[in-house]
Amino acid sequence: MSAAVESAWQPARLPKIAYGKGSYLYDTEGRRYIDGSGGPAVFCLGHGNEEVNAAIKRQLDRIAHGYRYTFTSDPLEQLTGIVRRACGATSGLNRMIFVSSGSEAVESCLKIALQYHSARGEQSRRRFIARQRSWHGNTLGALAVSGFRDRRLPFEGALVEASLLSPVNVYRPPAGVRPENVAEHCANELEQEIARLGAHRVAAFIFEPVVGAAGGVVPAPPGYAKRVREICERTGVLMIADEVMCGSGRCGNWRALEHDGVTPDLMSVAKGLAGGYLPLGAAIFSERLWEPLVARYGGLMTGHTFSGHTAACAAGVAVQGVIEREGLLDKVRCDGVYLMDLLRQALAERPYVGDIRGRGFFIGIELVADRVTKEPYDPSLQLFARVRDRSFANGLICYPSGGNVDGVKGDHIIIAPPYNAARAELDEIADKLQASLAEVIEGLLQRP
Ligand SMILES: Cc1ncc(COP(=O)(O)O)c(C=O)c1O
Repeated sequence: MSAAVESAWQPARLPKIAYGKGSYLYDTEGRRYIDGSGGPAVFCLGHGNEEVNAAIKRQLDRIAHGYRYTFTSDPLEQLTGIVRRACGATSGLNRMIFVSSGSEAVESCLKIALQYHSARGEQSRRRFIARQRSWHGNTLGALAVSGFRDRRLPFEGALVEASLLSPVNVYRPPAGVRPENVAEHCANELEQEIARLGAHRVAAFIFEPVVGAAGGVVPAPPGYAKRVREICERTGVLMIADEVMCGSGRCGNWRALEHDGVTPDLMSVAKGLAGGYLPLGAAIFSERLWEPLVARYGGLMTGHTFSGHTAACAAGVAVQGVIEREGLLDKVRCDGVYLMDLLRQALAERPYVGDIRGRGFFIGIELVADRVTKEPYDPSLQLFARVRDRSFANGLICYPSGGNVDGVKGDHIIIAPPYNAARAELDEIADKLQASLAEVIEGLLQRP
C-alpha cells in the first residue's frame, strides 16, 4: 500500500478488498472471509446482489442525484412509501428526511426535536437525556449523547451537556438492583432526572432499543420501553429510538421497538436501509411533530447537500424490495432462533462466556474471566481485539468491541449476518467463532 493512501484508521497491514458475493468477501490475495457481522451490522443482503446493483446502475444512467430543493424523484417517493408502510399505518411515523449516515440520522432527530419545541414556544427545552454504554454516532451532537467513554474522551469539553443514565442491562444491573427490577429502576431513574432538571428544560430522551456496539447487543427487559413511553408522554419529553444498528429488520421486525409494542416520536435508521450498497440513513418522525413545525418554520431546518440522494434512495428501494419479496424478516425471526441455538450449543458452557443474548440476526456474546462473579478480563489484554484478529485470520468477520462493563473493562462480540445467509453459512460462522475464541482464550490461559 502506498503511503499516500495510508491513514490513522487504515493501517498498512489491512488486506485489500477485491470483491464480495453473498455472505463472502475476497481480498486481492485470494483469501475468503465469511461475513458474520455484516461489517458493523450493515450488509443485510450480503454482497454483490445483482438486483440491487442493477437498480443503482439504472438510476445512475438517468441521474445520480436530484438536489432536494430543486426536485423530488421516484426513488425518494417510493422509499418514503416503503418506510411509512414498514413503520405501520397506525404508528404516525409518516415524516422523514433521508441522509447519508447513522450519525446524520441521529443528528437530524436531535435537531428536529429542538425545532419542534421551539415551534411550540418551548425554547427552554434544550437538554437531552441518554444512557451510559450507548452509541449514537461520531458527529458532535450524536457523540454528546453517546455513553461510550473512549470515543468521547478526546472531545470532552466541547460536547453539549447531556444527562447519561445507567445502562439498562439485566446481566449487569445497576448496583443493588435485582435483574427483575432493572426495567422499573431504570425507568424511575429517567423520571427522576426529568424532575431534577425540570421537564420544561428537557427536549428528548434518546436510546437504543437494543444496544449495539457500546453494550454488546443488550435488549431492554420487558416493560421498560412502555414505561419510558408513558413518562415521556406525561412530561412532554420526546422519545427518540436510535435504530441505526438494531432496526431495518435486524431484530426480525422492521422497527426493533415493535417488539415492545411501543412507537417513538422520532427514530433514526441507517445501516440496513440500503444494506451498505450506498450510504443512506433516515430520521423518521411523527406527523404530530410535523404540524407545528411546518406551521411555524415552513419545513425542517436540517439537511445536507446529499439529503435524499437519488441513487442512494434507489438502492434503498431495491434492498427493501428484496427483503419484502423474499420474506426475509420472517426468515430472520425463524433463523435467528436457529443461530441463537447454534451459538448457545457451541459456546454457552465455555468458562469464558458469560452471556449470549439478542434477537433475530443481532446476537451478542459477552466474555468474562469468571462466570460466577462476572468479572471481565483485564482490559490491558485487549481481548476483543485479539478475537477480532484471530477470527479474521481464520476467515471470519465478526464485530468484537470493548468497554461494555464500565467504559473500560469488558469484551464482547457481535454476530449480525446477512438476512439471506443460508443455514450452512450460519453453521460456518458459529464453527469459526468457536474455534477462534478457543485459540485466543485457551492460548492465553495456558501461558505460564
Ligand atoms: C446505534 C447507532 N447509532 C448511530 C450510529 C452512527 O452511524 P454511522 O457510523 O453510520 O454514522 C451507529 C454506528 O454504529 C450506531 O450503532
